[in-house]
Amino acid sequence: MSTSIRTRVAIVGAGPAGLILSHLLAEAGIESVIIDQRSRAEIEQTIRAGILEQGTVDLLTRIDPNTRVHTVGHRHDGIELRFQGEGHRIDFPGLVGRSVWLYPQHEVLKDMLALRLEAGQDLRFGVTASRVEDVDTDHPRVIATDADGAELVIEADFVVGADGSRSAVRPAIAGTSRDGYFREYPFAWFGILCEAPASADELIYSNSENGFALISQRSHEVQRMYFQCDPDADPNSLSEAQIWETLQSRVPGTTLKEGTIFQRDVLRFRSFVARELRRGRAALVGDAAHTVPPTGAKGMNLAIADVVILADALNALLTENDTRLIDGYAEAALRRIWKAQNFSWWMTSMLHSLPEHNEFDQRRQIGELRSLVDSEAGRTYLAEAYTGWPLG
Ligand code: DHB
Repeated sequence: MSTSIRTRVAIVGAGPAGLILSHLLAEAGIESVIIDQRSRAEIEQTIRAGILEQGTVDLLTRIDPNTRVHTVGHRHDGIELRFQGEGHRIDFPGLVGRSVWLYPQHEVLKDMLALRLEAGQDLRFGVTASRVEDVDTDHPRVIATDADGAELVIEADFVVGADGSRSAVRPAIAGTSRDGYFREYPFAWFGILCEAPASADELIYSNSENGFALISQRSHEVQRMYFQCDPDADPNSLSEAQIWETLQSRVPGTTLKEGTIFQRDVLRFRSFVARELRRGRAALVGDAAHTVPPTGAKGMNLAIADVVILADALNALLTENDTRLIDGYAEAALRRIWKAQNFSWWMTSMLHSLPEHNEFDQRRQIGELRSLVDSEAGRTYLAEAYTGWPLG
């Protein structure tokens, strides 16, 4: 059995990028179909990072003035960098007049899914894209399989891969799924969610002799924390007591408020940019196009920045047959992508200890952190990058 449907833009992936793109297209009167292999519940429960840049919040507020970012989320006006047991606050509004918001990605997804479904968006869960064909013609198509195993063919004017790091769209654009620029890191993050009051008002990024830790929050009752670990670590190998001991040893100067740990995961670190972001009538956005290591929380923000650029380009292409913006999409998106790649790599390198580090490397790293916090120019760069460069 095979069913065929037609739309203007076929979007593979109902993550933040795909959902926001469908909204921006709808604003321009362009109809789209979104498919995602996951169920709605799975999408809404995937735990990811929690920091939204100023520009992301401005966009979400424009999309929905009553967004829960402002009621459930929390504005953060700074972060703390801690090293040699001392904290150094980076004051975002004081340095760049911008802030960030702590509002978990799955909450953004709940909001956007509700909004799009209410607006009548054609959004199909449990549908797995297998490949994309004919991107060099004016009628590319997505070949997919629905939850019952039946084939679904989506014929479109344009196909967007917003389907994450194992994108099914990428091979049609880049030739293979792996062609791109890579970096692996010899460590990962052990992440926990726990039921406890906050140990600090703002995030603490801590470089310690025992390795890196990040103290983040979710709400008054739930906290998110991470510590640097071996990439092959088994999340179930440590007892709760061992986890607290490890975390505590890495934030000297703060006594962490402990509580029941109800979720644990190991996050791999990778930097990746696909060699091609667009070919003919198909383009990649978000993790389908690039991956950043989590330090600095750029992943979702970068995905949203991609779709802001792509939405304008698709509007020009599909309503005025103007190809200039779509021809410039990859170059425009890559400018920000490489800035974010640099920032994420830099924060990661500055804060973690590497197995091959000798005493020189450790002391140099402290020298780098001190150069940063002692310099208004240094702190300003961090604040500018962390709160996010203006969108569009
Ligand atoms: C969180 C994750 C990050 O990668 C980061 O840099 C800051 C916060 C978080 O999940 O809260």
